[in-house]
Amino acid sequence: MNPRCSPWERFPNVLRNQDFFEEHLRALFRETDRMIQARNQSEGYRFRQKRTLLTLFYEASSRTETTFLRAAQNLGMDTIAVRDPARLSSEVKGESFEDAIRTYGGPKKDDAYRIADIIVLRHEEEDRPERAASVSAVPIINAGNGSDQHPTQSFVDVYAIEKIVGRLDNLHVGIVGDLRHGRTCRSLAYLLPKVGTGIRFTFISHPDLQMGRDVCDYLRQHGIRFDVHAEYGNVLPELDLLYVTRLQKERDPEKLRALAPALAPLRLTPERLEALRPEARVFHPLPIDSSVPELSEMTPELCAQARARDRDPRLVWFDQCDYGVPVRMALLSLIFGA
Ligand code: NCD
Repeated sequence: MNPRCSPWERFPNVLRNQDFFEEHLRALFRETDRMIQARNQSEGYRFRQKRTLLTLFYEASSRTETTFLRAAQNLGMDTIAVRDPARLSSEVKGESFEDAIRTYGGPKKDDAYRIADIIVLRHEEEDRPERAASVSAVPIINAGNGSDQHPTQSFVDVYAIEKIVGRLDNLHVGIVGDLRHGRTCRSLAYLLPKVGTGIRFTFISHPDLQMGRDVCDYLRQHGIRFDVHAEYGNVLPELDLLYVTRLQKERDPEKLRALAPALAPLRLTPERLEALRPEARVFHPLPIDSSVPELSEMTPELCAQARARDRDPRLVWFDQCDYGVPVRMALLSLIFGA
């Protein structure tokens, strides 16, 4: 593929999934295949020009930040991970967010003054990716903006669905958990129907934690079929994929902790797993919240099973997670037209 034709170069920011078209995803998945092959065959794949990726994470992360750093390093990039900016950056001295972004990625008179060539941002406030993009001269990647979206997680999820389930068309996808605050659920609902035809969603949650009206309206406008359920009912045997998520208790700790018992009846148990077809797959964006085992979205047996070598073939969230590095390598490669 001629990289000059890449749709990613025309608009290199990754802010929200409504911005993307099927051609973005197809190009991304081809590039991911290429990254995996290059890795298997030779030294791998490296940028010729020196570039620096900066991560700016105001919220906790285990996977997204480290996989971006690993992806960048695999491509021969330099990396800077800003330490705990909520506590340690000059914002605690009253500096505006815009001035901080201008420092890291604003226009520079000379490349020698440059700190970052791309900024990966996670923040609890939903408008931060847009605000960052409005003052940055380098691409901004939204790595999670509050309860809104997490586009690159959904890139990983959709790539993983194609590889693990074997197709993107005619899938019945159940999404269960805190859909109201779960940014990975929202991003997946926007993204999957852009590459898969005949997608049908069933959103399963307590009414106070159901999928936002904005996403439902978008799906309706685009003719995507979805149902909203408060319980599993008879849906489990019909699903091709069950996407399980945790209660996002950090969004409103008091209120959401009080709702935890209301979500507990939806947790995945060995009995519920048995109701899924043998070919169905269970995804989870991780982390699984095991802090109070009886309130976790997944029973401890299933967590242990998923880590075991001879696991039930339906419990695939670590395989899903392992695509994080190559998909993010591919994204960086397309953004920089390398
Ligand atoms: C998710 C997130 O940060 O939204 N984590 C991730 O990046 N895979 C999911 C979550 O925290 O529940």
